[in-house]
Amino acid sequence: MASLLSKLLLLGAAASMVQASSISAWLTDIGPQVILVNETTNQIRYSACNSYDSAKYSYTDGSVFSLLIKPKVGTPVAGAGWWNSKNTIASIWYITEEGSVANGLFNCDMSTGLFLRQGNWVISDGAPSVHSNTGLAAVLLGQDTGYRVYFHDNEGAINELHYTRDTGWSYRGVISQDINSLPAVAAVASGNGNITVVSPRDERNVAATRWNRDETWFRTTLPQPLQNSFATGETIRADIAVNETTPTNFSLPAWDGKTKGIGLSLDSAFTRFLWYIGNDSSLYLAGNQNYTWSLRANQSTDFWPQADQPNADLAVAYDFNSSMVRLYYTVKGQLSEIKYENKTWQAWSTLEAPPPLPTQNNTIPVPTNTAAASDSGLSTGAKAGIGVGVSLGAIALGAIIAVFVLARKRKQRQAFEHPPEQDEGSTTLGADTPVPSYGGSPALARASAAQYEWDQKETPVESPGPEHGVQQLDSTARAEMYAPQPIYELPQHSYSHELVAEPIQPRQ
Ligand SMILES: *[C@@H]1O[C@H](CO)[C@@H](O)[C@H](O)[C@H]1NC(C)=O
Ligand SMILES: *[C@@H]1O[C@H](CO)[C@@H](O)[C@H](O)[C@H]1NC(C)=O
Ligand SMILES: *[C@@H]1O[C@H](CO)[C@@H](O)[C@H](O)[C@H]1NC(C)=O
Ligand SMILES: *[C@@H]1O[C@H](CO)[C@@H](O)[C@H](O)[C@H]1NC(C)=O
Ligand SMILES: *[C@@H]1O[C@H](CO)[C@@H](O)[C@H](O)[C@H]1NC(C)=O
Ligand SMILES: *[C@@H]1O[C@H](CO)[C@@H](O)[C@H](O)[C@H]1NC(C)=O
Ligand SMILES: *[C@@H]1O[C@H](CO)[C@@H](O)[C@H](O)[C@H]1NC(C)=O
Ligand SMILES: *[C@@H]1O[C@H](CO)[C@@H](O)[C@H](O)[C@H]1NC(C)=O
Ligand SMILES: *[C@@H]1O[C@H](CO)[C@@H](O)[C@H](O)[C@H]1NC(C)=O
Ligand SMILES: *[C@@H]1O[C@H](CO)[C@@H](O)[C@H](O)[C@H]1NC(C)=O
Repeated sequence: MASLLSKLLLLGAAASMVQASSISAWLTDIGPQVILVNETTNQIRYSACNSYDSAKYSYTDGSVFSLLIKPKVGTPVAGAGWWNSKNTIASIWYITEEGSVANGLFNCDMSTGLFLRQGNWVISDGAPSVHSNTGLAAVLLGQDTGYRVYFHDNEGAINELHYTRDTGWSYRGVISQDINSLPAVAAVASGNGNITVVSPRDERNVAATRWNRDETWFRTTLPQPLQNSFATGETIRADIAVNETTPTNFSLPAWDGKTKGIGLSLDSAFTRFLWYIGNDSSLYLAGNQNYTWSLRANQSTDFWPQADQPNADLAVAYDFNSSMVRLYYTVKGQLSEIKYENKTWQAWSTLEAPPPLPTQNNTIPVPTNTAAASDSGLSTGAKAGIGVGVSLGAIALGAIIAVFVLARKRKQRQAFEHPPEQDEGSTTLGADTPVPSYGGSPALARASAAQYEWDQKETPVESPGPEHGVQQLDSTARAEMYAPQPIYELPQHSYSHELVAEPIQPRQ
């Protein structure tokens, strides 16, 4: 077992030559948002934040997050966001030059599609050293339950940072002491605060670590199970090993444990889907229904194009209610969108460029070499999207307004940040507004420390509140279980939890 452990640790070391995952995506009520680290400029770029239906991405315009705290070269990124009925909001995480985890909060200027900074903070004070090849994953639980962010420490274990509006950011410890193959990590949360974090574990297995009802992390692996089925957050590393003698019912195709592209999505039947790009550059999918993992059907390259690189980066965005999934990765040098919508796979496409930015004085410099076209108005598609966005947004409007009122009150008490670069507008409401059970908005992130300039030293954050912010987790299975048979064929009748493809016209 000792030799196995050292072998696995070695794998981790080898994998650390791979550059960190650097693309992230999410869906708001109006459309998808993609962010990525440009490897040439080391800027964190984003798709136009006023994109409806499909992400619009420019490789060269001024759509770059304006950060006070500088990201390290090759930083991983994670993000989450929502639509507040007026504009889209993005909360992003990255690694600073000092090796800390930082959070930036941005409001969209819906007329330009540019994000305006609301705040930028170091959030990992009190946490152990961040691994130089860490990954990052973030989940948005809701306005009261806040965010969770996952990163690798120097030992390669995954750690959790915890945010609620009441406690601010705090460090919560490792989710499992088990090894991981760095840097990929992904996380997903569903309604009641259950969280699943996945990461490559070794050259055969993925690890799935789940926050459970009894407020314990449970780690399982697939396709090979762990000895004794699972490990908790307290199980020491030397006691965690894969049970090599258990016969497995499937293996992960083209898996060598080194993929940068791992992602998770959740559908309306609570099926968790695990996505990765294999060492053959193809996309693969496993699904977990009723705590049972199985391989899911491959799709043709009309739907799932080959990535440019083996084990390439990948970002997954999903919508729980509609079970929609969007994946983003680079195909033939272009950032591309892979789309599951209306319960069918749609033809993939490369991202279109947004309309050129107006050349005006802005906090973000607009390069003059951007092709200047005259049409700065919204496309018909975008206009249609506004209608949809407004009606969807209206559902959560009451709750969002409540959040703003709270945020406003809080702001009056605390002069913790520079004035926002954009006013949120004035809103008033009654107090008895519902809280969205899914998604939701944690409102303006509350800073627990002053804003930082490039050269300022980090100051300590407040100590964490005593209570756990997560309630109502699964009462049922502790460990994941394993499918008796790999599910290779799609069922005859269409299960809502299966991702089905319908034949389409092949791309030319
Ligand atoms: C990164 O930036 C370079 C230089 O601006 C640009 O040529 C390239 O297309 C960008 N790549 C992406 C993915 O944004
Ligand atoms: C490993 O798997 C085998 C076969 O399923 C089983 O008999 C054995 O008890 C397992 N060992 C541990 C430590 O879980
Ligand atoms: C992909 O990984 C598998 C498992 O480690 C290995 O057998 C195979 O040779 C690899 N393929 C490529 C193209 O590297
Ligand atoms: C999952 O479990 C529920 C309740 O136990 C059952 O109704 C459903 O058919 C199961 N789904 C699958 C795909 O096994
Ligand atoms: C998908 O393709 C891979 C590689 O060709 C294969 O090993 C795997 O079995 C396929 N998966 C399914 C569910 O058919
Ligand atoms: C999802 O659907 C449920 C029931 O149809 C609804 O109550 C809820 O507001 C929807 N959530 C979102 C984010 O649209
Ligand atoms: C999905 O269905 C909606 C409503 O029927 C339709 O407006 C939309 O265009 C469909 N999307 C795709 C990609 O076919
Ligand atoms: C833009 O800003 C620069 C420097 O801040 C200033 O010199 C210039 O006059 C401004 N141009 C316009 C059109 O406002
Ligand atoms: C999340 O929790 C709810 C309620 O406890 C449960 O019904 C659901 O199956 C859980 N989802 C996952 C993916 O574990
Ligand atoms: C494989 O399937 C058999 C039943 O066919 C089941 O007993 C066993 O637990 C499964 N093994 C794994 C590792 O999932």
